Amino acid sequence: MSDIKKIKDEYLNKLKNDLKIENLNQIKTELFGKNGQISNLFKKIGTLSQDERKKFASALNIVKEELQEKINFKIKEIEDKEINSKLESEKVDVTLPEREISQGKIHPVSQVIDEISSIFSEIGFSVEEGPDVENEHYNFTALNTPDNHPARDMHDTFYLDQNKKLLLRTHTSPVQVRTMLKGKPPFKIIAPGRTYRSDSDQTHSPMFHQVEGLHIDKDINMGHLKGCLNFFIKSFFEIDKIKMRFRPSHFPFTEPSAEVDIGYEIKNGKIVIGEGNKWLEILGCGMVHPNVLKNVNVNPNKYQGYAFGIGIDRLGMLKYGINDLRAFFETDYRWLNHFGFDPLDVPSNYRGLSR
Ligand code: PHE
Repeated sequence: MSDIKKIKDEYLNKLKNDLKIENLNQIKTELFGKNGQISNLFKKIGTLSQDERKKFASALNIVKEELQEKINFKIKEIEDKEINSKLESEKVDVTLPEREISQGKIHPVSQVIDEISSIFSEIGFSVEEGPDVENEHYNFTALNTPDNHPARDMHDTFYLDQNKKLLLRTHTSPVQVRTMLKGKPPFKIIAPGRTYRSDSDQTHSPMFHQVEGLHIDKDINMGHLKGCLNFFIKSFFEIDKIKMRFRPSHFPFTEPSAEVDIGYEIKNGKIVIGEGNKWLEILGCGMVHPNVLKNVNVNPNKYQGYAFGIGIDRLGMLKYGINDLRAFFETDYRWLNHFGFDPLDVPSNYRGLSR
């Protein structure tokens, strides 16, 4: 019994002091923790005689409740104090002006990539991706471009190592190779992405964007290529008629190869696509060379098809009246505010995100 009283007096005394939450928690453990003084006294109950047991237990319970109550009261007191002092010091000034809300814009290049992807997805193309850092094999050799082929110089390649094995891809065509190596024909894909060449002026940037197209099946011919590009250009520029011409060209990975121009004219200082007698080159294409198919284990006697590579930035410049390619990549916030797109502002030819 004297133990109970001793503990009670000692702790009531302690609780008179100016205590912090940590001190109060400490006291709680000292009394009611696993080895706490009160907890230990409860363990003693079993050793007492029947008579003593009743008295001891009820006395112990009373002290336990008294101390607990006191401690909880003190904790509440401290918490109230804290809240009150916060309310005192943190006044809300309802007269302050609101903070400006700034909403980001979608970059024209991202917008154009989305538009292109959704147009091609309508006619059955799916979207593939490849890495910007490419190896020499996928970028050139597998695409039928041997070591000393002049096309390698044409590309002004950024090499990443002394042995010229790693490079920044000069076109999206290596995605053709990657796609065909990992699957089985037929293939019908587009592959938009960044490409790199050591070149810089008003219409060339060292980093630019292309979208690759590849359609391989048993009887795909140049007519299909023409139809597909015709559909794409009309949809992209939202016009019913276009003037388009195939100019014979050369790429090591296609045979025959062509470059495609679209007709345009300048009316009242604005470029009008699909009319007039000026020509603008927008893409390279052709029938995939049998050697390329062999390199990716596709039998050229069974399968054939076309590929194309379109300059994305140039299409964006034409459609949205942007006259310096470099502006795309200068990350000038004012420029982006003007030419960028609102995420919720759906353009008239928007067909839903395809990625
Ligand atoms: N890769 C070529 C280029 O970048 C374009 C192209 C792609 C041509 C596919 C033919 C077929 O110039």
